Amino acid sequence: MKKVLILALAVIMVVSLGACGQKPADTGANTSTTTSTDTNTGEGGTGKIGISMPTQSLQRWNQDGANMKSAFEAAGYEVDLQFGGDNDIATQVSQIENMISGGCSILVIAAIDGESLTTVLAGAKEKNIPVIAYDRLIMNSDAVTYYATFDNTLVGQRQGEYIEEALGLKSGAGPFNIELITGDPGDNNVNFFFGGAMSVLKPYIDSGKLVVPSGQTEQLAVATEGWNTEKAQARFENIISSVGYGPNGKKLDAVMASNDSTAQGVTNALVNAGYTKDNFPALTGQDCDTASMKNMLAGLQGMSVFKDTRTLANQVVSMADAIVKGGEPEVNDTTTYDNGTGVIPAFLCEPVVCTLDNYKELLIDSGYYTEADLQ
Ligand code: GAL
Repeated sequence: MKKVLILALAVIMVVSLGACGQKPADTGANTSTTTSTDTNTGEGGTGKIGISMPTQSLQRWNQDGANMKSAFEAAGYEVDLQFGGDNDIATQVSQIENMISGGCSILVIAAIDGESLTTVLAGAKEKNIPVIAYDRLIMNSDAVTYYATFDNTLVGQRQGEYIEEALGLKSGAGPFNIELITGDPGDNNVNFFFGGAMSVLKPYIDSGKLVVPSGQTEQLAVATEGWNTEKAQARFENIISSVGYGPNGKKLDAVMASNDSTAQGVTNALVNAGYTKDNFPALTGQDCDTASMKNMLAGLQGMSVFKDTRTLANQVVSMADAIVKGGEPEVNDTTTYDNGTGVIPAFLCEPVVCTLDNYKELLIDSGYYTEADLQ
């Protein structure tokens, strides 16, 4: 009797172990006709992942694309990685069309313009191809299955708090002069970055402790097409001359810039106007781009927000892997991001403030950059 029981237990164990090592179940979403490059016979992923990034002209998207490509390939997937020219919406749309017709089983997309993918993604939905919105939410499309990003409101809040602290606003100091600059109006993140920063700064503007001499305080008025550095610089050159800012002119105490590519334009304009590290306004940023980190080391940008693109890439790989294998991807926010068709379940990674005090630990010790990258 005892022997029979042991045998029965052994059989159950073998069967359940077998189940753990099974090939991924067909989700029905996988329309891929591509043969996987996977040579694993057990847990590896199968199918082709279409990754659509907005541009190669800004540092972060090159990193995001490269990180995801290698992480997906390491997990056994084939990857079709495309960049939408230099923020060219038509190019991104046609690349996504090709991914859909080319047999991709999942799409991972960082939209150039969150409002422009409704039609092309209807084609993905028709073929049951899941879509993960990457970093930026894709609006007005019920094809979007999940959203993976950083806590975008927190990014803006941290920028606002940096200025609040740098100027001593909490202890009643002021009034101070501030100018604002944010990103592309088609990027849904801008609403959260700018909204988060203004949730901290607006009360001080309302009470007169912060003054915006250009008068440009509305999100659209301070937007920068394509997050473009030259456009940011041109706008600040105008502001400097029209307001009369300068080391010997009107004092500029702070600039809230939503990211590094715009902050770099601000820094260029200020340096051209004669500002140095000794009279530089408190300037924020985001992404820890190498160009901005070099500015920070030279005293020409006060902070950036570190968003470790390795973390986001890995998160997206495990989300996609879970979908392919018929499981539920991990999410941690099911209320914030409504894309017009309903709330998209999201995974938010944590952004971290980076200054001269902690950049070594965040960026160098973690292997994100080498010391030489920042010289
Ligand atoms: C945003 C992104 C930022 C920044 C910006 C410009 O959507 O969240 O990290 O890179 O685009 O590319």
